[in-house]
This record gives sequence, structure tokens and C-alpha cells, in this order.
Amino acid sequence: MDESLESKFATLKSKNFKIDLTRGKPGSDQLDLSNDLLSMTVPAKSPSGVDVRNYGDPLGIPEARSLGAELLSAPVDNTLVGEQSSLLLIYQLVLANYLFGLEAPWREQKNLKFICPVPGFDRHFRLLDDFGIEMLPVPLTGSGIDIEAFKKLLEAHENIKGIICVPRHSNPTGDIYTDDNMKELMKAGKAYSREFLFILDHAYLLHDFAPTIDQTSSWELAKKSDVLDQTAIFSSFSKVTFGGGGLSFAAAGTKLFDLLVRQRASMIVCSDKVNQMRHLEFLQNKADVLKHMSKHAELVKPKFEVAFSALDSLDSKIGSYKKPTGGYFISYNTNKPIAKRVIALCEEAGVMITPAGSTYPHFHDPANSNIRLAPTFLGLEDLKEAMEVFTISLQLAFEE
Ligand SMILES: Cc1ncc(COP(=O)(O)O)c(C=O)c1O
Repeated sequence: MDESLESKFATLKSKNFKIDLTRGKPGSDQLDLSNDLLSMTVPAKSPSGVDVRNYGDPLGIPEARSLGAELLSAPVDNTLVGEQSSLLLIYQLVLANYLFGLEAPWREQKNLKFICPVPGFDRHFRLLDDFGIEMLPVPLTGSGIDIEAFKKLLEAHENIKGIICVPRHSNPTGDIYTDDNMKELMKAGKAYSREFLFILDHAYLLHDFAPTIDQTSSWELAKKSDVLDQTAIFSSFSKVTFGGGGLSFAAAGTKLFDLLVRQRASMIVCSDKVNQMRHLEFLQNKADVLKHMSKHAELVKPKFEVAFSALDSLDSKIGSYKKPTGGYFISYNTNKPIAKRVIALCEEAGVMITPAGSTYPHFHDPANSNIRLAPTFLGLEDLKEAMEVFTISLQLAFEE
């Protein structure tokens, strides 16, 4: 064991840090970018004449729907504005299929399955688990789904109801699915079943902080692949304006859209149109949103660079990662099965990291190697310290 590593770790431990690197939350400087929303007075009526104070317009006020449609490149008629959480909309879509379904309710069927790219988003896994849906992991390649592995799963299993994935700046790997990858995915899913769902969670649609390859819109790809009736696309302003305080958007092929609308009608009379109006006063169109997102990028980029330079200082025999060009996460893979140990060491030194295994269904990372880092929430100084703890812990665990 390297003595100097141990003494470095002891010195860091003696500083009694209390640093939380667990969740991908915007930093307070990012939230400040939207402070105008806090003091905004909004007109009682939208330009289209909707009284935003009252019930009505369950799909959102027309201007907000147009903004959502513009962002998702979908027709307005197929786009709705929900509450403040896209995860809630995704939950409602799965619930709608479970209770009613496009052809038959999923609840009447046995052994429901879904394909989940890994490493992935823990809340997707939790959502599917609520419905007793078995999760079949499929690896990501750095530029999307491993199509061969995806096809093998389709061959090997019956009753796979769909895939849930994050095609841009995937959480946590940062994968940008190429157009070809999406087309292959859609082709194979369509051949498997005309009811196979593509749930495309575009939480990071506009969240580039470095040059990123172009993607054709998911709507366009689904249309060209003739799978619109199997496709639902989601996004939100949680990381545009306020975390958990923005707007959410969904677009889907008509049958699926109607199913979602039907489900939501049992749950809510209408969403918060005052918040929609407030957001519209602040961000009227896609150009406004993109301009606003470039301010986020300026704040977020230096944080990722701090994390990158710490990780780049490590010997490549310890592990590897791919630099994301947007989103909120870094996904680090250790070469030895030491993720749990690394995270325990970090915790011992006062740095909380997302629990090992969180990026896999049922917390089961078979290689015990994936670690998710979320650098945005911390200030630069805390982040530097957290990364020092992390890199020393990695080296210690590697040598143990
Ligand atoms: C992939 C992904 N989807 C959805 C969400 C949550 O979004 P919302 O606040 O709109 O529910 C997150 C938040 O971390 C996320 O990473």
C-alpha cells in the first residue's frame, strides 16, 4: 500500500468535509439565471384569450403547447404541457398502458418486460419496478444502444413492452444516440411488435456545454421509421429554469397521445397555467430557450472541467470515462470491482456519492464498477475538494 496515499487520505478525512455529490441538481448560480420568474406579474389572460386563473385547457395554454411543440419538433396537436415534472408524465404514460393499453391493458398480461440501457437513470428503474415490470439491461456503446445486444434481447424474450431511454446526454453516460442508432433501434422494435413503446426521455435535449454532434429530432426519426404510434417524447424545464419548478412537455403519436390524455383526465383537471404564463413571459420561443441555455453552459462547463482534470490525472489502469458534452453527469468505470469500496471511502472522508449500483436495475451492477458523478450542484472550491477525495479514494481502493 502506498503510504503517501494513506496519509493524503487521512489529511483529507481530518478536514471533516460535508460535501454532497449525489444528485444532478442545478447550482444556485444556475437557478439565479431564472430569478425574474420569482417577481414576475403575469396577465390574467394568455394572448390566445385563455384565463390562466381558471380551470380549463387541460393540454396547456396554446402558446405553451406551441413552445413545447417547437422544442420537441412535434405538431402542436400531439404536444401537451404538464405539471412541473416530466417524470410524472412518463409515469402517467406507463400507468395508462398498464390500466388501459393501446390494444389490451398490460395489467392483464404476465411477465411484463422493458429494455433499459445501462448505466441508466435510477428513477426510470424505480418507476418500472412499481409496476412489477422486469427490466432487461442493454449496454450503451458511447453513441447509443448496443443494437446487437438489443436484438438478442428481443429474440430471447416475449412480452417486452418497450424501451425507456435518454437519447441526448444520457444520464449518466452522456451518450448521444446517433441517427443511425435510433433508426436501427426503431426498426428492430417495430419488427418485434407494433405495440413496442419507445419512451424517449429528453431531459437534456438543450443542455450542451461543449460542441455536440447533430441529431435529427426524435419526432422526425420516429415518423420516418413509421413508429409514431409507438413513440412518446418527454422533456422539462427542470434544468432550464427551476429544478422541480418548471414546465413539462410530452409529445406522442396520436393513439398514444390520446391514451395519455385519457389517463391524465382521471388525475387532474388541468395543469398550472399561471406557471405556464410566467414561463412564457420569460422564454417565448426556442431561440430564447437556447440563449438561456448558453448561460447555463457557461456556468456548468468550468465545473465539468474541474472534474475532467481530476479524472485525467488518474492512471488509466484504474478506470476510464468518456467526457460528456452536455447533461449533468459523468459516468466513471473502474477496471476492478471496487465501486462500492470507493464510494464507502469517499463517505468516510465526508463526500457523498450516488450509491454504487444506482445506475443499474435493482442496484445490481454486475461488475461493481460504475460510479456516477454529478458536478453541477457544488461550488468550484467544494467540487475541487470532492474530486480530490474521489481520486485518492479510487487509488486507495485500487491498491487494496
Ligand atoms: C433522465 C432524466 N429524466 C427525468 C428527470 C427528472 O425530470 P423532471 O424534473 O422533469 O421530472 C431527470 C432528473 O435528473 C433525469 O436525469
